[in-house]
Amino acid sequence: MRSREEWRKARVIAVETPAEDVRAVTFAVEGPLPPFDPGSHTNIRVVIAGSPAIRTYTVVPSAPGTLKIAVKRHPNSRGGSAWVWTLEPGDETEVTVPENRFELSWRAPHYLLVAGGIGITPIYGMAKALAARGQPLRLVYAARARSQMAFADELEDLLGDRMECFVDEEGCTLDLTAEFARLPQDGEAYVCGPLGMLHAARAAWQKSGRSMSRLRFEVFGDSGRFAERPFRVEVAGLGRTVEVRADQSMLDALTEAGVPMIYDCRRGECGLCAVDVVAAENEIDHRDVFFSEAERRENDRMCACVSRTLGGHLVIDTGYRREDAA
Ligand code: FES
Repeated sequence: MRSREEWRKARVIAVETPAEDVRAVTFAVEGPLPPFDPGSHTNIRVVIAGSPAIRTYTVVPSAPGTLKIAVKRHPNSRGGSAWVWTLEPGDETEVTVPENRFELSWRAPHYLLVAGGIGITPIYGMAKALAARGQPLRLVYAARARSQMAFADELEDLLGDRMECFVDEEGCTLDLTAEFARLPQDGEAYVCGPLGMLHAARAAWQKSGRSMSRLRFEVFGDSGRFAERPFRVEVAGLGRTVEVRADQSMLDALTEAGVPMIYDCRRGECGLCAVDVVAAENEIDHRDVFFSEAERRENDRMCACVSRTLGGHLVIDTGYRREDAA
C-alpha cells in the first residue's frame, strides 16, 4: 500500500564508526541516483531473526552514486540496528531511492537546527546545505557524552560559533524554551531527537505562541517507555489474529500476514497507519509523534508502525472488512 518506492540493489563499500555505538555504512547503489535533499531517508531490506524486514534510515551526505546511513546500536533494538552492525564491505541488500518528509523550506530567514543524540543524522545534512548557501543558522546538539556525538567535530569546524553542544556528562543541558526565545519570530526550527525531546519541543513551541507550521520535527528510532514484548493482535472485522514478535513492528507483522494496511513513513509521523483500538489487555506504549498528548492518553487509536502493547491480547480495527480485503 506504499507508493513511489523504487528498490535498487546496493553493496556495502565502507563501514566506519563516527562515534561510540554509531556505525556509518556506505552503499554503492545500482543505477543512477536522482539528487536528494538533506533530511531524506531510504528504506533498507534487512534480516531480523532470520526473516526479511524493512527498516528506514536517514541518509547523510555522501559521494554521488552512493547512499550513507549512520545507525546507533540500540540495546532494545527491534533488530534493525543489530543487523546494520553486522554489515561488512561486499555485503549486498536492496535500498529505495531516497524520499524526503523532513524537508527544509528554504524560505525562512533564520533556521534553528536541534539534534538529540543520533538525531544528528538529518540535521548534519541540513547544516551543511544551509551553510553552503550562506543561510543564517544556529545548530544545538545535545547528547549524554561527547564520545557519542557523531559528526560533531566536522560540524564545529564548519559552523564555529553558530553551533553549541550540550553534553549531559559535562553538566550542560539544552533549554529548548530559551533556544526558541532567541530565534527571530520569522525563523523556523527543525528538531530531530528521541521521543521525549520531540514532545518537549512541541510543548515549548506551542507555549511560545509561534505558528506550528514553523516547527518541523522527526523522530528517530522508535524508543518507547518500555522494552518490546511480543503480543497478539486481533483484527476486528477481518477475523484474523496475528502474533507480533518483540523484534517486529505490529505493521510488519500484519502486512506479512496479508492484512491490508495503509502506511507511508513507518516512523510514527504521518499517521496513515493509525488503527482504532477496540480492546487492550495491557497498556499501550505510544511511540508516535502524530497524535497529541491528549489523543495518546485516550488510547482510542495507535500508529501500527511504531506503537505496541506490553504483551497479551490487543484488538484493533483497521477499517477494512472481509469483503474489502477479498
Ligand atoms: S506509517 Fe506513518 S505513522 Fe505509521
